[in-house]
Amino acid sequence: MSSALLAVRTLACRSLRSATPPDFDQLQRLVAYVGRFPQKLHQASEEQHLFRAVERRAPAAATRAIARAKRDHAACLGYLNRLDDALRRWTRGQSSAGGEVALMADDYVRFCRLHGRIEARDVLSVAAQVLQPDDWRTIAQAYAATNDPLDASKSHADCAMALRQMVL
Ligand SMILES: [Fe+2]
Repeated sequence: MSSALLAVRTLACRSLRSATPPDFDQLQRLVAYVGRFPQKLHQASEEQHLFRAVERRAPAAATRAIARAKRDHAACLGYLNRLDDALRRWTRGQSSAGGEVALMADDYVRFCRLHGRIEARDVLSVAAQVLQPDDWRTIAQAYAATNDPLDASKSHADCAMALRQMVL
């Protein structure tokens, strides 16, 4: 998620610096990827499988942390929607939206990183103590079932190909 958002920020900043239009197709594919995979599928899987397993094994241990993580996931959707809206306006010719795209990708990636750190500290640390091998297997299967095309990519070229193959 972070690398796709950083790529959006880089493409937008490069375009603004050079005063040349960005590769809008590439930007749209990156934002669509973030919306479809990390945002929609990975976070849903995390809530349905990881968080529920922790709540089942240790009902009181991470209640507040899980509630916060879910609020963060909802806030991520707000970041995504604002980024998507700015990119649509930029694509349609509103040049002032280019700066918004760069700024929103930056805000979004900062928020995601903070969320990831807090989730690791307050939820994954509990999960590591209370979950059993069967729980981890189920969680791994659920994550794998999201079929994230970039997770399966081993190189920059693989990632570029996976993004090109996404249907917009
Ligand atoms: Fe999360």
